[in-house]
Amino acid sequence: MNLGLADRVVLVTGASKGIGYACAEAFAAEGARVAIASRSRANLDAALARWPHPVAPLAVAADLCRADAAKRLVDEVEAALGPIDVLVNSAGAARRYAPDDLDADAWHAAMDAKFFSYIHPLDVVVKRMAARGKGAIVNVIGAGGKVANPLHLPGGAANAALMLVTAGLATAYGPKGVRINGINPGSTLTGRVQEGLAVEARLTGLAPEELLARGQQRLPLRRYGTPEEVARVAVFLASDAASYVTGAILPMDGGANPIV
Ligand SMILES: NC(=O)c1ccc[n+]([C@@H]2O[C@H](COP(=O)([O-])OP(=O)(O)OC[C@H]3O[C@@H](n4cnc5c(N)ncnc54)[C@H](OP(=O)(O)O)[C@@H]3O)[C@@H](O)[C@H]2O)c1
Repeated sequence: MNLGLADRVVLVTGASKGIGYACAEAFAAEGARVAIASRSRANLDAALARWPHPVAPLAVAADLCRADAAKRLVDEVEAALGPIDVLVNSAGAARRYAPDDLDADAWHAAMDAKFFSYIHPLDVVVKRMAARGKGAIVNVIGAGGKVANPLHLPGGAANAALMLVTAGLATAYGPKGVRINGINPGSTLTGRVQEGLAVEARLTGLAPEELLARGQQRLPLRRYGTPEEVARVAVFLASDAASYVTGAILPMDGGANPIV
């Protein structure tokens, strides 16, 4: 299948690690010209050091909780590579909390870390794509926005809001040639899962390894997903192969949540 991604300009946020890095790599494998962004220069340099493709991505440090940083990022990528054809948002960092540890600061921090870090680049890029009459955006959101987990309420609330925004902006910008879709990963083997296991271990007194084994055993597919599996779906949704898909939220939770 020709995905039509060769030479397309792709910006992946949160791409120094985890799902974002796997997405950046997968787009590069399709011949796209890739830019990656995250807050830490050191994390970006570590990503560049393990980059397997001959052409290195443009790597820009930006804290996307800030609107001005997102605008600067988009300007820098477009100045270096040309108009952005594909935006993948994966720059999330909402922490998990035991319910008793939640306070106003925690709720606000989660919206900054997971909601606004997606909205800021999205807001700039979607309008430019609309002005050019084409583009595709993929938001890596999270199954925690559909099924409430008491240890992930602020992050889950941000995810629920992002699903609504994905559907709503897809409706608004479809007539202008921009497709916007979301992916809801369930537990996916990145550093984020280790963080969640550590909170759960503190609450239950069980070892993280034991919790991981139990968690995987509960799933119909009997294992957590990998960043590379999420990346393959992101590539498909952004590609011409998905040219009639917009406003969709695709669950990738190994069958964990049997809901329609
Ligand atoms: N892994 C899972 O099980 C899972 C499940 C459901 C949903 N998700 C969602 O998928 C997305 C990616 O998760 P992941 O597991 O790949 O996380 P990860 O391994 O922790 O990677 C997160 C990436 O985002 C960057 N980042 C964080 N905050 C940022 C900010 N304010 N501005 C710019 N970059 C920022 C991080 O780099 P720096 O630290 O250098 O900024 C890193 O590159 C997140 O939104 C997460 O909520 C993950």
